[in-house]
Amino acid sequence: MSQTHGRGGREQPVVAIDGPAGAGKSTAARRLAEHLGFVLVDTGALYRGVALSAQEAGVDWDDGVALGRLAESLDFAFHIAEDGTPSLRIAGVDREADIRSPAIARGASDVSRHPEVRAALLGLQRRLGAEGGVVLEGRDIGTVVFPDADVKVFLTASSQERARRRVNDLISRGQHPVFAAILEGIEARDAQDMSREAAPLKPALDAILLETDHMSLDQVVERLAEIVRNSSGA
Ligand code: DC
Repeated sequence: MSQTHGRGGREQPVVAIDGPAGAGKSTAARRLAEHLGFVLVDTGALYRGVALSAQEAGVDWDDGVALGRLAESLDFAFHIAEDGTPSLRIAGVDREADIRSPAIARGASDVSRHPEVRAALLGLQRRLGAEGGVVLEGRDIGTVVFPDADVKVFLTASSQERARRRVNDLISRGQHPVFAAILEGIEARDAQDMSREAAPLKPALDAILLETDHMSLDQVVERLAEIVRNSSGA
């Protein structure tokens, strides 16, 4: 089949899923990628990897120039387990558990403000998606990384709903979260991600907005699959 797809001239589409923390992007993007048989690229993991590596190397999360240099030197790869679970490897070492802590989440938001860091990760993200047949999940995929993505969805939910989901998630892991503190953390991260000058979190003009407050995960995945189907005219 030599037919090319959409704006990028690729045979398979690039699907961009952006949105704020806790909107259910990660799980929905993963389920969508599985459903389509596409590769999943969790771009937030790369920013988390920079924050973790900086912490370990003694580089300040405020030092954009040093962070940019560090980010350029890092050897990132995604390893996919047999059950489809992706994990981030840095220099060949599995760092998935280490990048998921709340401290590193905050660090990722800090380091992602710096244009030097964003520039250092841009080429890698584009290479990972270049062939198409990929779901990229992040904050600026439809606006900056793949402005010519074939499908762009901005997935969101109210901060209250996102905090509720996070609290339930933590309770199911045996933790005892305080709702107000979780809500405050989510709103602080939103404010920082939306107000930064470099690639702020915002929907692309041509993105489809999907507000998930009253949707189950299954409904979200089904709707995403439908959006992809409609975009390819299949
Ligand atoms: O999706 P996440 O929570 O793993 O993302 C961690 C941080 O990385 C988040 O605060 C914003 C930043 N990020 C970004 O600026 N651009 C992306 N494409 C992905 C994540």
